[in-house]
Amino acid sequence: MFLYGNEEKQKNIEMIAKRIEVCEKCPLNLTRTNTVPGSGNVDSPIMFVGEGPGADEDALGEPFVGRAGQLLEKMLKEYAKLERKDVFITNIVKCRPPQNRVPTQEEVKSCQSYLDGQIIVIKPKIIVTLGNTPLYYFTGESKITQSRGRFFNWYGDIKIFPTFHPSYLLRNQSSTKGSPKWYAYLDMRIIGIMYRALKQGKDVEEVTKTVEEKIKSLENAGGSQT
Ligand code: URA
Repeated sequence: MFLYGNEEKQKNIEMIAKRIEVCEKCPLNLTRTNTVPGSGNVDSPIMFVGEGPGADEDALGEPFVGRAGQLLEKMLKEYAKLERKDVFITNIVKCRPPQNRVPTQEEVKSCQSYLDGQIIVIKPKIIVTLGNTPLYYFTGESKITQSRGRFFNWYGDIKIFPTFHPSYLLRNQSSTKGSPKWYAYLDMRIIGIMYRALKQGKDVEEVTKTVEEKIKSLENAGGSQT
């Protein structure tokens, strides 16, 4: 697990990871090779949440290290102008579902306290959900195409910002205007803008209001392909 940032927070995140390592709350513990608690910067104002580990993640114990992860990293770099180590990345479930199937509600529930714990420690201002599973978990919505580019309120004053899962983008390669990839690039640019504003201490309400305008203008101008 790679951690950066505040040492006290790192210790607490490590403590959660140790609990995950011995977790037997759901049947996924029977088929896992490694647990995948999450990694990155514990001071990040923006946290990324995917669905669950795949084969590469299960083998290495790190989130988003396979093809989808490489695409996520590339988009972070090119469009958000962020390094992977700038943000914290985790998943809804911390063990690989066999054959990469969608985790069951029972599995999601079993893992909930770990994700809650990570959110309590890191205190992100914005959670970026990758794909449908975390979208549904945080918002109850199930249509990513209708939900992306919008903000949803979660507990406290945490905002949820849904975008496409990178695996979906690997299956939908077109980046012409209006395609999922085109929107995902736009979302990444917005994520970069929000990250820097929040790091400067700007208020999350103010930041999300400002970027809502920006999202509209980028969508109309077709300006995500820089
Ligand atoms: N897909 C996910 O949702 N999470 C990972 O960690 C890797 C692939």
